[in-house]
Amino acid sequence: MRVGIIAGTDIYDIPGIQLEAKTVETSYGPALLHVGQGEAENLVFLMRHGPRHTVPPHHINYRANLKAMHKLGVRAIVAAYAVGSIHRALPPLSVAVLDDFLDFTSDRPRSFYEGGASGLAHTIMSPPYCPTLRERLLACAPSCGLTPAPHATYVCTNGPRFETPGEIRMFRQLGGDVVGMTGAQEATLARELGIHFAGVAFSVNWAAGIEETINIVQDGIADLRSRLLSLFLKTLSELDGFSCHCEDAVLFTHYPRDEDGHDRN
Ligand code: HPA
Repeated sequence: MRVGIIAGTDIYDIPGIQLEAKTVETSYGPALLHVGQGEAENLVFLMRHGPRHTVPPHHINYRANLKAMHKLGVRAIVAAYAVGSIHRALPPLSVAVLDDFLDFTSDRPRSFYEGGASGLAHTIMSPPYCPTLRERLLACAPSCGLTPAPHATYVCTNGPRFETPGEIRMFRQLGGDVVGMTGAQEATLARELGIHFAGVAFSVNWAAGIEETINIVQDGIADLRSRLLSLFLKTLSELDGFSCHCEDAVLFTHYPRDEDGHDRN
């Protein structure tokens, strides 16, 4: 099975794995992926902000990225998210295997099903992340030197600005544990494509208003990054032969009918 890693801030390569850049054309535009070489040929790596961190969260072409991974045969993805901590029990440098998200984005394409020729569908998002992948991430974590929180709700904002203290107070009351700017679309689009998808958050700061100023931690990030990548590689290398509800979560698919009233697809 081909597998994928999506990484953002702080992760721009996978030590020990040679990667070859590959631009994949999709109906949503091109996507730049990196494909593993040699023994890692089943691995596809995506840097969501680009290799030089030039694409801000609200300009990422999420649909092209996910479609391109699917086109290369990727059937399971683990994604890393640098986040701010809302919950006191998740201080900076803590890691959480996400189990829910709140989507506060408003200005982004969020589906492959846009009506018209692309059809209409409703996709089941409960649970929001692949339970099998989550379980395997949690099982592999101790041997990679990580003790992730097994539950955390990710709040996805538009960005690119940080939140106000009032927004963070609201998100906390709504059950948000960590906050970032990219997670909601990737989880949704992967589910629409039937790709198993899990997200792992690592905190790089307290969210706005929790301390007087926002301090992004630097110390310890390099070590955390390498532990996270070994967790991802270990989890993905032990995946063969599984299936779960992620593969058929798209319901009520309606494609336009032609003039004779027949389904076009
Ligand atoms: N808010 C939103 N996104 C983030 C943060 C934050 O505090 N830290 C890292 N990504």
